[in-house]
Amino acid sequence: MTAGRALPHDAAALHVTGAARYVDDQPLPAGTLHLAFGLSQEAHADLTALDLDAVRAAPGVVAVMTADDLPHASDVSPGSGDEPLLATGSVHYVGQPVFLVVATSHLAARAAARLGQVGYATKPALLTVEDALAADSRFEEGPRIYARGDADAALASAPHTITGEIEIGGQEHFYLEGQAAAALPQEAGDMHILSSTQHPTEIQHKVADAIGRPMHAVRVETRRMGGGFGGKESQGNALAVACAVAAHLTGRPCKMRYDRDDDMVITGKRHDLKIRYAAGFDGEGRITGITFEHLFRCGWAQDLSLPVADRAMLHADNAYFLPNVRITSHRLRTNTQSATAFRGFGGPQGMMGIERVMDEVAHTLGLDPTEVRARNFYASAPSGPGTAKRFGGKHSPKGPETARDTTPYGQQVEDFLLHDMMPDLARRAGLPARRAAVARWNADNDILKRGIALTPVKFGISFTLTHLNQAGALVHVYADGSVHLNHGGTEMGQGLFQKVAQVAARELGVPLDAVRITATDTGKVPNTSATAASSGSDLNGMAVRDACITLRSRIADVVSENRCRAEDVRFEDGHVHVGQDTLTFAEAAQAAYQARVSLSATGFYKTPKLAWDRIAGQGRPFFYFAYGAAVTEVVIDTLTGENRILRTDILHDCGTSLNPALDIGQIEGGYVQGAGWLTMEELVWDDTGRLRTHAPSTYKIPAMSDRPSVFNVELWDAPNREETIYRSKAVGEPPFMLGMSAFFALSDACAACGPNYPALDAPATPERVLAAVERARG
Ligand code: MTE
Ligand code: MOS
Repeated sequence: MTAGRALPHDAAALHVTGAARYVDDQPLPAGTLHLAFGLSQEAHADLTALDLDAVRAAPGVVAVMTADDLPHASDVSPGSGDEPLLATGSVHYVGQPVFLVVATSHLAARAAARLGQVGYATKPALLTVEDALAADSRFEEGPRIYARGDADAALASAPHTITGEIEIGGQEHFYLEGQAAAALPQEAGDMHILSSTQHPTEIQHKVADAIGRPMHAVRVETRRMGGGFGGKESQGNALAVACAVAAHLTGRPCKMRYDRDDDMVITGKRHDLKIRYAAGFDGEGRITGITFEHLFRCGWAQDLSLPVADRAMLHADNAYFLPNVRITSHRLRTNTQSATAFRGFGGPQGMMGIERVMDEVAHTLGLDPTEVRARNFYASAPSGPGTAKRFGGKHSPKGPETARDTTPYGQQVEDFLLHDMMPDLARRAGLPARRAAVARWNADNDILKRGIALTPVKFGISFTLTHLNQAGALVHVYADGSVHLNHGGTEMGQGLFQKVAQVAARELGVPLDAVRITATDTGKVPNTSATAASSGSDLNGMAVRDACITLRSRIADVVSENRCRAEDVRFEDGHVHVGQDTLTFAEAAQAAYQARVSLSATGFYKTPKLAWDRIAGQGRPFFYFAYGAAVTEVVIDTLTGENRILRTDILHDCGTSLNPALDIGQIEGGYVQGAGWLTMEELVWDDTGRLRTHAPSTYKIPAMSDRPSVFNVELWDAPNREETIYRSKAVGEPPFMLGMSAFFALSDACAACGPNYPALDAPATPERVLAAVERARG
């Protein structure tokens, strides 16, 4: 059986030998031109002069364009229409593209772009969330509020309360392959685009508008990305549109790739934010009332900020039942890069608020934080396998059990697994004994302090914009029995193509090497959604299955004639079993061809059960939830603030895994990326709005040596209760949030330094760890 097998990434050998082709590796015709942007040096200003004579005169320059030279629409936003490709009269962040250079080489274009003389009339810039709040600079009228019960009354009558604020930094995507695109002009003004994008259909749409042609004139192809992580959901639009416009005007192929520094300065990152909270709780640590205020720094353009901030609100509960709750979300417009999608899409930010509260409640009451977390969990699924087993044994209070199943936005949590997963993980990780060992270590050591924490994850799967939850596929069976397919998803390293190929192989009963998936292509499968929200395999796996079922039934009709019922034909092991007879799959395909039966089929899927009203904040935005939990142990140096992860144990829920090898890879990578976000990756802007951490020399992502030296990852093996593809679960984003356990282990280590709550901020750089140690000491 091909689906469910632990197979390597289909392009693993190509990746490691350097043979895998990315956009920049594609051989392009002689005469291809290369592009670079001239960038704003001011965070907010009117443009008073634009002298580009020196740029035009520079060696190799073929053309220079400003906003006035663009022939048609020039918006590169994913929908809100507020992102001109090139600045129109004013600039809104340091790094905004102002003009476009077209030259005979990449280096010539970059060198010339530096020669532009831009006149600025400087205006006050809003750089922080406080600046933006004071100026009421935001993307929606007033804040969005989701609420249930009476949080204020519950806070007023609570036996204990805490109030506080946590600062959470952003994150650079640091995909190893930077943004890149190429445009190849075709006959009659058609355009063929190669793009490193998670969203080929959006590129097609934006390019069509920019060259004034219908979508049928534009074909976008994406073979693979060298990582996307959400950073290629919308941020590739500018490059593809620039290439298309330049190709349209010059008639020559055009290519653009950002140098790493330009990539970091121009493109949006994960949203940083502040969360203000107030929580009321009883003596056992159960939350009775809670308020959160999210201050999202969205940057200069809207991009995907509204759905990102919505998802943060939808994950403000993480795994916990909040009886009386109000979440207030401010989407603030600032003069910085336009923050965008990044693995978790706001979910991680939302969860950090409630995990901070759990940590502080436990500290305030002097209780075990794992116990406090368990007491606040949603109730188990009524018929679920684990209703009897409960962590700590004190979970279920009297009162209506159904209410403890319901999220603040009204979705019933029908599949809650953490009552079973958390004690299982605690046992595997030896948590109680290790917590005692950490306490002994801390009693014996003044300089090095250790900390340990377990944090859970409950992550909602589906696009919250309901109509995006659809996918298509196109499957061809050739007369030799080989299978060629395309689907709407894109490959960014996550292993989607391999999983989808495994589905086709299983459905058609052929070996995996009989199935070939080629580049995602808007000419093969139209009107696709971005590969995002972790739903790639859920959606495209089902669409391919649908197409394969159609093909199987057509072939079965042909081969069963006069032999058996079509329903009884079996497709297995590269063979087709018809009554007593057995044909090879190739013979069956040949028979269908001879009988003039089509061997090409489309497939389609839409996620069922979804109903979501984002204005009211009510409904069922998610088809199901994915769960996980992690235990991390860390050590800090209280003299320098330096810190290290010593050991990590993870238990993660992939339903019935489509491919355990790829899923474990996603979990390991997600955890390390999540821990990087909360510990070492720090973005610094100066007070003129210039990003000072604009290269790997100043921005530190986890290296191989930062991987936990003991790193145990196990899959929770139980089928999805919903009918997903072979009862699997999405895995792309949920493990990212397991990185929270590293942060709360650091908080635990800081707390060992003194009596007070350390109120650690993120990222927990050495400076912030030291500050937290000081606070703990008081
Ligand atoms: N894994 C790798 N190797 N590279 C990536 O760019 N992106 C992540 C995740 N895992 C990413 C990755 C993000 S943000 C998402 S939404 C999912 O993969 C998208 O793919 P999927 O829906 O097929 O899981
Ligand atoms: Mo992932 S942030 O949904 O691309």
